[in-house]
Amino acid sequence: MAFTITVADTGERFPCAEGQNVLAAMVRLGRRDIPVGCRGGGCGICRVQVLGAARYRTLKMSRAQVSAADEARGIALACKLLPEADLTVKALGLLECRLNPVAGGAPHRG
Ligand code: FES
Repeated sequence: MAFTITVADTGERFPCAEGQNVLAAMVRLGRRDIPVGCRGGGCGICRVQVLGAARYRTLKMSRAQVSAADEARGIALACKLLPEADLTVKALGLLECRLNPVAGGAPHRG
């Protein structure tokens, strides 16, 4: 089974298989501007906010990157975010800058 992930910033949609994390599914799009860091929930480069009522689960994420209060607001690390239904996510931080440089400020380099 695959779920549809919608990126609120761009309207882009892509499939994410059950058990696959959102970052891996995003990378499969082949976009070279998707920032990929540790893929282990530690660096925070892939922060997103899940919008609306959504069903998902997260694996272990660094509390330095996502506090309990953040988590309660739907903030998660895409590399540790596993959808259990279709999701809409808003990119945050570097991911936002890469996906939507106008809204997120000047694109980061490197
Ligand atoms: S890639 Fe490092 S926290 Fe997701």
